[in-house]
Amino acid sequence: MAESLDIVAVVGSLRRESFTRRLVQALAAMAPASLRIEIVGIGDLPLYNQDLESAPPPAWLAFRERTRRAQGVLFATPEYNRSMPGLLKNAIDVGSRPYGKSVWSRKPAGIISASPGALGAFGANHHLRQALVFLDMPAMQQPEAYIGGVDKLLDPSDQIVNPASRQFFEQFLKSFEAWVRRHAG
Ligand code: FNR
Repeated sequence: MAESLDIVAVVGSLRRESFTRRLVQALAAMAPASLRIEIVGIGDLPLYNQDLESAPPPAWLAFRERTRRAQGVLFATPEYNRSMPGLLKNAIDVGSRPYGKSVWSRKPAGIISASPGALGAFGANHHLRQALVFLDMPAMQQPEAYIGGVDKLLDPSDQIVNPASRQFFEQFLKSFEAWVRRHAG
C-alpha cells in the first residue's frame, strides 16, 4: 500500500456548529487510510503583526511547525462578505512569514468552499485561490468544490446524506490524493 499522506485541514470558521468544519470532519472520516486529514487549530493565533517576529507567540510557532510537517493542505472556507473570513486570512499570513520561511511554499493544496446559500462561497474560494498563487502553492484545479446548501448536506450523525454528493466527495478526495502525491516535494 502507498505511504499514508499527512494532510492538515485549515478551516475558516470558529463557530461551534460550523457546517464547514462538520463537512471536513465527515471527509476525514470517509477518506481512505492513505489520506490522513487532521484539522489544525487557528482560533488561538494572535493577529499577524511583524513586530512580534522578534519573539513569536508560541501559537504561531506551533502552527508553523505543524503545517510545515504536512505533505498537503486542505483549505475549507465559509464566505464572509464574498471573501474568506479574516480568521483564515490571518492563519495564511502567519504561515507565510518570516520572509523566505513560508510554510506554504510549494505545498500542494485543495480548496473547498461552503455556504448554506446557492453560490457555494465562490467568492471566498477564488480570493483564497488568489493568495495561494502568490504563496506558490500548487492548488488543485479540478474538481472544483463550491458547496451550496451545506446546511442540508449532513445528517445528525454527520454522514453525507445524498448519494450523489457522497460520490462527488469520494471523487474529490481521490483527485486530491493524486494531486498531493504528484506535487509533494
Ligand atoms: C455570512 N454568510 C455569508 N454567506 C454567503 O454565502 N456569502 C457571504 O458573503 C456571506 N457573508 C457573511 C458574513 C458574515 C460576517 C457572516 C457571519 C456570515 C453566511 C455564512 O455562509 C453562514 O453563516 C455559514 O454558516 C458560515 O459557515 P460555518 O460557520 O457554518 O462554517
